Amino acid sequence: MQTTDIGATRDRIAAHLVGRERELELTLAAVAAGRDIVLEGPPGTSKTTMLKAITAEWGIPLLFVEGNADLTPAKLVGHHNPARVLREDYSADNFVAGPLVEAMQTGGFLYIEEFNRAPEDTLNTLLAAMADRSIAVPRVGSIPALDTFRVIASMNPYDNQGTTRLSTSVHDRLNRLAVGYQDDDAERGIVALRTDAPGALGEALIADAVALTRATRDHPDIRQGSSVRGAIDCVLVSGQLAGLRGISDPGDAGYRELVYDAMAVCLSGRIHLDEAAETTPERVLREIWEDHFILHPAAAAPG
Ligand SMILES: Nc1ncnc2c1ncn2[C@@H]1O[C@H](COP(=O)(O)OP(=O)(O)OP(=O)(O)O)[C@@H](O)[C@H]1O
Ligand SMILES: [Mg+2]
Repeated sequence: MQTTDIGATRDRIAAHLVGRERELELTLAAVAAGRDIVLEGPPGTSKTTMLKAITAEWGIPLLFVEGNADLTPAKLVGHHNPARVLREDYSADNFVAGPLVEAMQTGGFLYIEEFNRAPEDTLNTLLAAMADRSIAVPRVGSIPALDTFRVIASMNPYDNQGTTRLSTSVHDRLNRLAVGYQDDDAERGIVALRTDAPGALGEALIADAVALTRATRDHPDIRQGSSVRGAIDCVLVSGQLAGLRGISDPGDAGYRELVYDAMAVCLSGRIHLDEAAETTPERVLREIWEDHFILHPAAAAPG
């Protein structure tokens, strides 16, 4: 691949993203080099957004698979249609491709989310396909992968229940990019892009929702806070609430309570409390809200 091509590709993809220049460049370099990669980061940190933009630019499919205990090698590879097997016996013709074989045949990216939740034999099947760039399917034969086939895995570093510790042989076969949360400027940019919240009220809601959402990531009683998805929903729900309650300006009397109500709906299910914390999501959110609007009002949007 020519470096000038990849530069132009990078620039076109970057136009769809807020920030993430470095992560995009590194991911793109890895896949353009013909390599597979694991993206390790908490939920809502642009992993899918980047991959969708890259595969759209390359004009290839992006196939999603969720890694969990039920993801058997057969589910990943495919199976023979049992009714047809009864009638016709096994043949290449009655094989129904699973996502791995489909990605290989179409030259797509196979995107395995929560990779570390998949059983070991499934991971081994995948590693073999990655190494050989072809897969041997019984009664079908050897299926080669098209050039652009890649395996992209994702993992949540906070996720340690029901996961398998990946063996060193798995790690040795994958590249890895750690992605974290973006800064508050970028998160405000994302929320503005996804909500189109208008005017002074919209601006205040975006700033407050992003600040409050970010605060859930630093609270001592919270093991994992909310991603930017919580802030997006908070702004959208607040906008509707504002209509219902006749609030049109961040200076209006009910504004702060409205933000709390939207927070409770949009963030309480997205925060995961520490097992040892003797509190409730609502109580923790109320503390974060008080801290933002009452103890440190300078940090809050004007109004
Ligand atoms: N850099 C970005 N530019 C524009 N929008 C973004 C960006 N990052 C995230 N978003 C938006 O935030 C939301 C979550 O992003 P995304 O789906 O890419 O996260 P993810 O890392 O795939 O999360 P998960 O691990 O939960 O699948 C989406 O609505 C997406 O549009
Ligand atoms: Mg995703």
